[in-house]
Amino acid sequence: MGKVYVFDHPLIQHKLTYIRDEKTGTKEFRELVDEVAALMAYEITRELPTEEVMVKTPVTEAKSKVLSGKKLGLVPILRAGLGMTDGILKLIPAAKVGHVGLYRDPETLQPVEYYVKLPPDIEEREFIVIDPMLATGGSAVEAINSLKKRGAKNIKMMCLIAAPEGVELLNEAHPDVDIYIAGLDEKLNEKGYIVPGLGDAGDRLYGTK
Ligand code: URA
Repeated sequence: MGKVYVFDHPLIQHKLTYIRDEKTGTKEFRELVDEVAALMAYEITRELPTEEVMVKTPVTEAKSKVLSGKKLGLVPILRAGLGMTDGILKLIPAAKVGHVGLYRDPETLQPVEYYVKLPPDIEEREFIVIDPMLATGGSAVEAINSLKKRGAKNIKMMCLIAAPEGVELLNEAHPDVDIYIAGLDEKLNEKGYIVPGLGDAGDRLYGTK
C-alpha cells in the first residue's frame, strides 16, 4: 500500500488557508500555489541521495555534499498541474518536465489521454506526477498508467488537496505510488468537487470559468 504524507508545516498550512479562501484573486492564488509547491518540493526531496565532494573555500579545502545525480522528472497533469511546476523547479531546476493531457470521455466519464510527452531515460528516472486536486483519483490513476506503460518504475504523486475517495482509488490502482499532499479534506460533493477544497483549481489559477 502506498504511503500518504500530509505536510503539516506551518508555512504550508498558512498559505493553504489563503489558497482556499474564495476572496483570494487569480494573481495571489497563483503566487501562493507556486510558494506551496516549492515548500512541498523541499519536503519531498528530503530523502534524495547525496555524495561527498571536495570544495575549496576561501579558507581551506573541505568535504561537502552534493546531490548524487538522481534523474528526476516532473509530470504535471494538464492544465492545473502546470500551476505547481515552476515552484518545484525553483528548488530542483535540473529536473526534466514531461506533460500528460487527459480529457473526460462524455459517454464513459473515464479520463482518456490526448497528449503524453516524457523526458528520456524513463526507466531510471524518478517521477513526480503533479495535480493540485486529487478528487475522484481517475486522472491520477490514468496519468500514472500512461507513465508505467512507457516504462516508468519509480513514481510519486504530489497534490495540494486530496479527497479520501481519490486517495483510496489511487492506492488501490497503484499501491507502489506514495502520495504527498498539503491537505486531506472531508469528501467529494455530488459535482465531484472536493469539500471544503478550493473550487476549480484550473479556473482559479488561470482566471477562467
Ligand atoms: N478539480 C478541481 O479543480 N477541484 C475540485 O474540487 C475537484 C477537482
